Amino acid sequence: MQKSSEEIIAFISSLVHKKENKDFILKETVELLKENFKKYTWVGIYLMEKEDELVLGHYLGKPSPHTRIKIDKGICGAAVRERETIIVPEVNEDPRYLACSLETKSEIVVPIMRGEKVFGEIDIDSDRSDAFDQKDKEFLEKVAEALAGIFE
Ligand code: SME
Repeated sequence: MQKSSEEIIAFISSLVHKKENKDFILKETVELLKENFKKYTWVGIYLMEKEDELVLGHYLGKPSPHTRIKIDKGICGAAVRERETIIVPEVNEDPRYLACSLETKSEIVVPIMRGEKVFGEIDIDSDRSDAFDQKDKEFLEKVAEALAGIFE
């Protein structure tokens, strides 16, 4: 059954508050996002490793060649460095873009962080151009804020 954005945020927050297993929460989050938003073609969570590298964890969609991304590379790296959500309406027009699939047209990357500390990020691709708006940004930032609760 389809869930609303509010229901998804409440559900993830409840898992975090109940101190469910971290890996389970990340997996549930990817599934909820992929199942409830048709335009979210690829949904994945990267986690920070060694201060300067992102490592792909749970994802749904085609396998990505970018399972490890240095933070000086890609849209993913830029979001870590800037500690800001990045929306790319046309990936082929952004020189930072690292291609995951030929069908991808637009992307949003939302850091999971507390203060200045980045724990990882939610990365979503769409086969539609300009698929992500302010509503997606606000919603996904709330999801990321809830997820930050599972990290020390
Ligand atoms: N497009 C990302 C790389 C990850 S794939 O989309 C899964 C980037 O430019 O950093």
